[in-house]
Amino acid sequence: MATLNEYLAQNRDRHLDELKQLLAIPSVSTDPARAADVARAADWVRDRLEAAGCTHVEVERTDGHPIVYGEWLGAPGRPTILVYGHYDVQPVDPVAEWHTPPFEPTVRDGRVYARGASDDKGQVLIHVLGLEAHLRANGSCPVNVKFVIEGEEEVGSSHLEPFLRANKQRLACDAVVVSDTAMFAKGVPSICYGLRGLAYLEILVRGTDRDLHSGTYGGAVVNPINALVEMLAKVKDARGRVKIPGFYDAVRRPTVTERRAFQALPHSDRRFQKSIAAPELAGEAGYTTLERVWVRPTFDVNGIWGGFSGEGAKTVIPARAGAKVSMRLVPDQSPREIARKATAYFKSIAPKSVAVEVRNLHGGEAWIAPTDHPAMQAAGRAVRRAFGRKPVFVREGGSIPIIATFDEMLRVPCVLMGIGLNDDNLHAPNEKLDLDQYWGGIRAASYLMEELGNGEAAPATGRTSPRGRSARRRA
Ligand code: BES
Ligand code: MN
Ligand code: MN
Repeated sequence: MATLNEYLAQNRDRHLDELKQLLAIPSVSTDPARAADVARAADWVRDRLEAAGCTHVEVERTDGHPIVYGEWLGAPGRPTILVYGHYDVQPVDPVAEWHTPPFEPTVRDGRVYARGASDDKGQVLIHVLGLEAHLRANGSCPVNVKFVIEGEEEVGSSHLEPFLRANKQRLACDAVVVSDTAMFAKGVPSICYGLRGLAYLEILVRGTDRDLHSGTYGGAVVNPINALVEMLAKVKDARGRVKIPGFYDAVRRPTVTERRAFQALPHSDRRFQKSIAAPELAGEAGYTTLERVWVRPTFDVNGIWGGFSGEGAKTVIPARAGAKVSMRLVPDQSPREIARKATAYFKSIAPKSVAVEVRNLHGGEAWIAPTDHPAMQAAGRAVRRAFGRKPVFVREGGSIPIIATFDEMLRVPCVLMGIGLNDDNLHAPNEKLDLDQYWGGIRAASYLMEELGNGEAAPATGRTSPRGRSARRRA
């Protein structure tokens, strides 16, 4: 029998081929016209879990998109991991900016380009292939493995939480394992111990009951676009701080130790700026770039509309205007509290001359975990072996709202072993996954199973350190 490493080296072509098969399915969860494709992706994942050797696999229908569950429980007495990921993807617009079609996976310069390559299909597959490698090369796996792969992460995971709660017993495990984040940099493996949360609102401003000629009426009524942008301009002060009353009340400050650890990371503002062609970096005064992105909350306008934006000019005072705004949150801000405070603030600064409606679209909790947990350390050893360099522990600015639910519900450590890269173009044209990251990721996933299965990494009883809110607060 080939060793695990030999097996992985011999099966590279097939592993790439299978990733391309999954990437070719346009599982855009937000697009109702793609619902059948989303279901097809779920079926593909189900079939792949079965082929990998899972002994029980099912596709759970929901009122939204299906959840795929699979398990291999052939290591009684050993720890159990629960791998979470998502097979749904973001829309592809603007499609004209893709160099090759988003659902025709193409390899160029050692990268596979397709929507979902990094977020999250490639990162889901590494764990399926990691389990399969153990079963084919060794006839067994050092840990029991459960998979929960959902199809609604990109639209708020609304049917996953009820599924998790209804299946709490079946999902019992010693650690949750997720690859849906990035490595700190190419050649710098990392384990993520914190994510930001999110509060997403829509603001609708109404003026008159119809659009008006700006000559006949301009100057005598309030223009809703003017009113909206004046309101938005009142959200941050000159030092980049959010002025919504109470916005920072619950913000947990990073410790001196943590700030020092950030300073020691191989980050350069100059390189960061260059990598995104930004004319200048900007943010809250008194914080470094990594702090601004990882430990400070933000307010951003994601979209704004109203009036005329077609070719040429039209003199009009529009009847309506609107904006989508979102706030990235940090521990211990509550998305609902923040949404409430932001809504109250917008109402309070709205001019009487317009009607302002604020809608709460969705939200998610931030998450932070102690890095000294044995499962985190095991993941550190796994990526070190797979990528040949000592890992760093990092936080990330993105959000995976369901992680906080796993943490609170299962009371086990969540191990975020992302193998994507920050330049993977997530949610943007030309999304890609570096193949070196994919091969390294498959190794890391299979090594993690060894590291957790061998010895004290995560005893089958779980509970090796106090957890929950109080433990997280100490992180
Ligand atoms: N995989 C991302 C989250 C992510 C991206 C974490 C980059 C860390 C670094 C996930 O698929 C995602 O896009 N999440 C959304 C939140 C959701 C509620 C739509 C996000 O962060 O905007
Ligand atoms: Mn994702
Ligand atoms: Mn995403």
